[in-house]
Amino acid sequence: MSEETLSNLSREDRSFEPPAELAAHANVKEEAYERAAPDREAYWAEQAERLDWDRKWDRVLDWDNPPFAKWFVGGRLNAAYNCVDRHVEAGNGGKVALHWVGEPLDDTRTITYADLQDEVCKAANALTALGVESGDRVAIYLPMIPEAVVAMLACARIGAPHTVVFGGFSSDALASRLADCQAKVVITSDGGYRRGAASALKPAVDHARAKASEDGFDVEHVLVVRRTGQEVDWDDSVDVWWHDVVDSASAEHACEFFDAEHPLYVMYTSGTTGKPKGILHTTGGYLTGTSFTHWAVFDLKPDTDVYWCTADIGWVTGHSYIVYGPLANGATQVMYEGTPDAPEKGRWWQIIQDYGVTLFYTAPTAIRTFMKQGREIPDKFDLSSLRLLGSVGESINPEAYMWYREVIGGERAPIVDTWWQTETGAMMISPLPGVTAGKPGSAMRPLPGIEADVVDEVGESVPNGSGGYLVVKRPWPAMLRTIWGDDERFVDTYWSRFRKQGYYFAGDGAKKDDDGDIWLLGRVDDVMNVSGHRLSTTEIESALVSHPKVAEAAVVGAADDTTGQAVCAFVILRDSAGDGGADIVEELRRHVQKEIGAIAKPRQIMIVPELPKTRSGKIMRRLLKDIAEHREVGDVTTLADSSVMTLISEGLSSGKAED
Ligand code: PRX
Repeated sequence: MSEETLSNLSREDRSFEPPAELAAHANVKEEAYERAAPDREAYWAEQAERLDWDRKWDRVLDWDNPPFAKWFVGGRLNAAYNCVDRHVEAGNGGKVALHWVGEPLDDTRTITYADLQDEVCKAANALTALGVESGDRVAIYLPMIPEAVVAMLACARIGAPHTVVFGGFSSDALASRLADCQAKVVITSDGGYRRGAASALKPAVDHARAKASEDGFDVEHVLVVRRTGQEVDWDDSVDVWWHDVVDSASAEHACEFFDAEHPLYVMYTSGTTGKPKGILHTTGGYLTGTSFTHWAVFDLKPDTDVYWCTADIGWVTGHSYIVYGPLANGATQVMYEGTPDAPEKGRWWQIIQDYGVTLFYTAPTAIRTFMKQGREIPDKFDLSSLRLLGSVGESINPEAYMWYREVIGGERAPIVDTWWQTETGAMMISPLPGVTAGKPGSAMRPLPGIEADVVDEVGESVPNGSGGYLVVKRPWPAMLRTIWGDDERFVDTYWSRFRKQGYYFAGDGAKKDDDGDIWLLGRVDDVMNVSGHRLSTTEIESALVSHPKVAEAAVVGAADDTTGQAVCAFVILRDSAGDGGADIVEELRRHVQKEIGAIAKPRQIMIVPELPKTRSGKIMRRLLKDIAEHREVGDVTTLADSSVMTLISEGLSSGKAED
């Protein structure tokens, strides 16, 4: 970590005590930290009791073969039963599970736990009829409609691990995921509503299926939900309508109970190489971690709270804090299909007002966008139901924190800034709303049962006031178990940096302040964070280089006021491409969108004659970042050819650089 980053840290001295009322009735109090620390396994066993087990475990943790953990060894349970059936059996079938809000106005659905049970059972029966068995993988490529939740739970119910692919990913990205996890069935829809228009999904699945097939992998069935009614191409040998096979299926389904370590899902996420990693989560530990943290960090009171997490189901936040955590806890929640500005700005605040949302979980990038639009918009709505606000995806900068607190939370609702990752499965570092005096910009302390720390190069804990690498020192229940099909990569990626100590290295830099509270400083590897979404520089570079006009590419994440970081690319064209033509920048941006998806589309592409490299050939992204962020270029002494930076600057000033 550079000295500059560390010294740039804000000297924040504001802090906000928990509201007295909340603290008095908080689900988790200060004593939890003291109780958990001496015996973490006992603490997690206590949390696992939150779930219904068909058979209790014999051993809490098997860490005999690190880093391959097994939690709740010998236990058996069903994730869908825990998220749905047990609430119905407890007499809460009439309770609303989902207040679903479609993007078109007045397009809403109210789904009770009893409704959800019927739908999940029907879908489970339909998937079984399509030949899906326990252990088979099912891909889900859906918009934010209730069927997405139903599909995930139906898979869980029959023990078929799901892999949800964000609907904004391209067909190529979908194809590589289908092939990597060998998905037997894909569940999709004709389309979904975004920004006031129907946006198609099925064609991307058709392309992805064809592409996977060329690579030797065939999907057996595509199950299609009709959402928008738009035209779709149909292949009778593969495609089936959801309303044909699910609606007519029986709502009776006796669920089977699976081993606590049975795979629950695979979620692909960007790493430092071009190939996304399939993060594997299993059942008992993951459900324990998500259920506990959702209850503890949001202080959920299931009988009175209305919870809303604005994430998409295609990301881990949607998995842990829309589906598994909240539903395991029997929460009532809002689920919204569309964008915050459709049909006009203020839609989110309208929804909070309409449904009396009490717990609200969103990302700093969204908050910064609203700040720019001005407080007049949220001020038009009654947001007084809100009693707690959450943030996730990147550090929340103090300005955004204060705005969130004042304008949205009415200076009443505490903010929980939750640090975690796809890999950690559940929140790891966060304030507890009834205990912690939160500081704007800090994720504060590891949750009870979690042992995380900031260490130096050699793995020694750094003193307060210093920065270093964020590590997790002991296994935790919701941790990833491996990378799908690649144990070696799992060990190399997360466990080799501090092999001697046996620490999990998260890839983030962090600092402990004078009180020992943790401040996240961003990734220390080649991973960017754009709007709270992880993107790999290498993956975007590979996408650029796959274009016939491109010889070489280097990508950096440059600071951006709204999205946190933005993708900036430096591209060397092939000689045969000449100057690339007048539309070269747009052509390359579109190409990246096609290869990966719109979120990866570079904000800026600069055509350059050379790239700065060290003598060993490694691209010095630090220098490119200086250019992208309009800073004076830093130390160039390690460059193989120090005139390169002059060449780039000249190339840029001669008008070749383009936005
Ligand atoms: O860099 C950290 C950042 O997001 C990364 C994890 O990204 P992903 O697996 O996509 O999961 C996002 C949702 C959990 C982390 O390595 N990050 C996430 N939350 C925070 C954060 N950085 C700072 N503060 C946070 N609260």
